Amino acid sequence: MQSIPLQKQVDYYSQVHETLRQQIEASSLEKHLSKSIFIVVIGGNDVFGYFDSKDLQNKNTPQQYADSMASTLKLQLQRLYNNGAKKFEIAGVGPIGCCPAYRLKNKTECASAANDLSAKYNEALQYMLKEWKLEKKDINYSYFDTYAALQDLIHNPTSYGFVNVKGACCGLGELNAQIPCLPVSSICSNRQDHVFWDAFHPTEAASRIFVDEIFKGPSKFISPINMEQLLAI
Ligand SMILES: *[C@@H]1O[C@H](CO)[C@@H](O)[C@H](O)[C@H]1NC(C)=O
Ligand SMILES: *[C@@H]1O[C@H](CO)[C@@H](O)[C@H](O)[C@H]1NC(C)=O
Repeated sequence: MQSIPLQKQVDYYSQVHETLRQQIEASSLEKHLSKSIFIVVIGGNDVFGYFDSKDLQNKNTPQQYADSMASTLKLQLQRLYNNGAKKFEIAGVGPIGCCPAYRLKNKTECASAANDLSAKYNEALQYMLKEWKLEKKDINYSYFDTYAALQDLIHNPTSYGFVNVKGACCGLGELNAQIPCLPVSSICSNRQDHVFWDAFHPTEAASRIFVDEIFKGPSKFISPINMEQLLAI
């Protein structure tokens, strides 16, 4: 199953924008869009893609790759901006090396190279956003530090009601991560106490916590403003 590249998604948005321009008076369209929140959650699969490809690794250091992810994203954010977007909710990537599939590669500990690339990308992303805000005074954004938020669940499971932070709820084999979540796989008895649903993705229980953090804070996870503040602008 192939996902739609971000550039293509923004192409579709531009087409919708063009249609709206023919239906709605310019100033009210501009006002409507400037109040809308554009939520951008992307990057995890690009980190996986780097470790899946010897070619990408030979051609790019992790730093170069992280920088190119951030600059590629900026082009697409800029295209959204050119079509009326003013408010952005943007998520960084989690500690990819801690997902069950990658823990398998390191005696159930997090794979450090993948976490390093995740952290490098998040740094490049935050730097890019700060620069962009200096260029475009009329945007406001809220950045979610998925890395810190997920690490917090992994390091302090009991304060959130989690018991298992390493394995997948659904899968087979070691950490339930050797075989994906398929009809033949086993499912944990309590998905509420797992951070990971399958070898790559968090559970609904973990995502629920992220949503609350995105909406209301604390500022160590969502900055410079949270989504509630972004909405109020
Ligand atoms: C494996 O895990 C240990 C302990 O967390 C870490 O220090 C080490 O760098 C990891 N190795 C790799 C190859 O990721
Ligand atoms: C939104 O951006 C404007 C213009 O840069 C800035 O003055 C304002 O403080 C921002 N709003 C918030 C809530 O940060």
